[in-house]
Amino acid sequence: MSARKLGAVHAVPVDDFADAVLSGLSKPQKAISSQFLYDARGSALFEEITGLPEYYPTRTETAILSAYAAEMVEGLGADGVLVEFGSGSSVKTELLLSQLPLHVIYVPVDVSESALVEATERLSARFPQVDVRPVVGDFSHPIQLPQDLNRRPAVGFFPGSTIGNFGPAEAVRLLRSFGRGLPDASRFIIGVDLKKEARRLVAAYNDAEGATAAFNLNLLVRINRELDGDFDLESFRHEAIYDPRAGRIEMHLVSDVAQDVRVLGRPFRFKAGESIHTENSYKYTTDQFREMASAAGWQAGRLWTDANADFSVHELFGFGRG
Ligand code: SAH
Ligand code: AVI
Repeated sequence: MSARKLGAVHAVPVDDFADAVLSGLSKPQKAISSQFLYDARGSALFEEITGLPEYYPTRTETAILSAYAAEMVEGLGADGVLVEFGSGSSVKTELLLSQLPLHVIYVPVDVSESALVEATERLSARFPQVDVRPVVGDFSHPIQLPQDLNRRPAVGFFPGSTIGNFGPAEAVRLLRSFGRGLPDASRFIIGVDLKKEARRLVAAYNDAEGATAAFNLNLLVRINRELDGDFDLESFRHEAIYDPRAGRIEMHLVSDVAQDVRVLGRPFRFKAGESIHTENSYKYTTDQFREMASAAGWQAGRLWTDANADFSVHELFGFGRG
């Protein structure tokens, strides 16, 4: 079953993989946007990462959501809409849906069609009264709900610290775009990973089992399969480094040797040690995040964290369209 057959509410563009790879490999610092890590295998590998002992964000945010889900969605009635950006497996969503009236509408938005299909099937079986309307698309394009939904009370949900995959300026743009796309007076619930010691961060992105390495290297497998690439997987390795100045983890795929690689018939030269930058994962303090939210036109509301202050979940409201 395809997500499109499940009835997407609104067409949202998906950026072109070929364009992104060809232009990204032509830059002085080769770089490919992290959204392309999520083909079907990438989404499955991300799920594996969420269960790793080193990867604290998922279990920490899940504990926060479990404790405070009722507060987060309070007031959203049977005519309400829950819109989730980068919904993936929608496992955390179940914590919110369990607190909502039976007849809500749930709109998951994700670039990964396979993740949307699996999540829609599971949620439709577990919450048969919830109207699930998946949208395959890139959430960084403007997303407007269709007429029948955009006058209803709504909660926007953006868990997982996926906002961390965006630097400050891009994050402000994204938060503003979400505000514009949601009905007036919407509440927004967003998970944000907090700054902590570099050792724990690097371990979370370079786990002992090698699941994050497989997730990162899968991008080359995807290029080989979809874009007629000839990357030799044995000669590239995963690297995760913390840049304390920028406050971000960077994931790279590093070429161990000097080599030429072809993609869609075009050659790309790698020096030994040269890398493709595949992901940023920014860690924001509460104040930094609130400043970005305010610059985007939102007011800061309640804040929920764990006892260790490893992870935060913020409530935003009162988006100003001006
Ligand atoms: N929300 C889930 C999944 C987080 S993983 C959780 O908290 O566990 C990030 C998800 O965002 C993936 O499912 C990925 O496919 C999706 N994603 C990443 N970039 C995206 C983009 N630009 N547009 C839409 N979805 C995106
Ligand atoms: C989805 N995103 C917020 C994850 C993160 O932590 O940046 C993706 C990820 N990359 C490596 N491990 C997990």
